[in-house]
Amino acid sequence: MGDFKIYDMNKDNVDGVYEVETLSFTDTWSKKAFVDELKNNLAYYKVIVDEEISKVVAFGGLWKVLDEAHITNIAVHPEYRGKKLGNMIVEALIEKAREIDIAEMTLEVRASNETAKNLYAKYGFKIAGIRKEYYQDNKEDAIIMWKSMKELG
Ligand SMILES: CC(C)(COP(=O)(O)OP(=O)(O)OC[C@H]1O[C@@H](n2cnc3c(N)ncnc32)[C@H](O)[C@@H]1OP(=O)(O)O)[C@@H](O)C(=O)NCCC(=O)NCCS
Repeated sequence: MGDFKIYDMNKDNVDGVYEVETLSFTDTWSKKAFVDELKNNLAYYKVIVDEEISKVVAFGGLWKVLDEAHITNIAVHPEYRGKKLGNMIVEALIEKAREIDIAEMTLEVRASNETAKNLYAKYGFKIAGIRKEYYQDNKEDAIIMWKSMKELG
């Protein structure tokens, strides 16, 4: 563990991405949803691979919606959390957003997810609103965060 590289997601990564997804969320996307994302011209996904064992250990993606980037999901394999891979994914998505001329980035996060809120706040995402009882499984609120690309970081 320790040699991590970041790539654009390709079809060979889908099984690994799906595994991280199912280990990370209760309300998960299907494998087909990730396959479909590979055909979506407005979707950009990054994966982090543990090169020693050629395994996908983290991923994240965004949709380009006009000049906004909507982060769809970010997850790190439970055994690999706390090793700065979340930082690496967020930085890669911000870099991609700059490349494709995004003005603002946005995402939704569960109100109770302090780790993710800290991660996003660190990169300049600010709380802009709440969607009450947005998550179907436990009726948890979603916190909406936005980041202006004009600010550094
Ligand atoms: C949220 C998640 C992606 C973070 O990934 P990670 O690799 O563990 O995070 P990192 O080690 O890169 O830490 C990034 C930042 O997150 C925050 N953070 C990480 N672990 C934390 C913890 N246990 N408690 C509080 N904040 C924490 C810190 O701000 C940290 O910044 P630092 O590096 O300056 O300390 C990961 O916990 C995860 O996959 N969770 C389940 C899926 C999920 O909730 N995704 C987000 C959906 S919106």
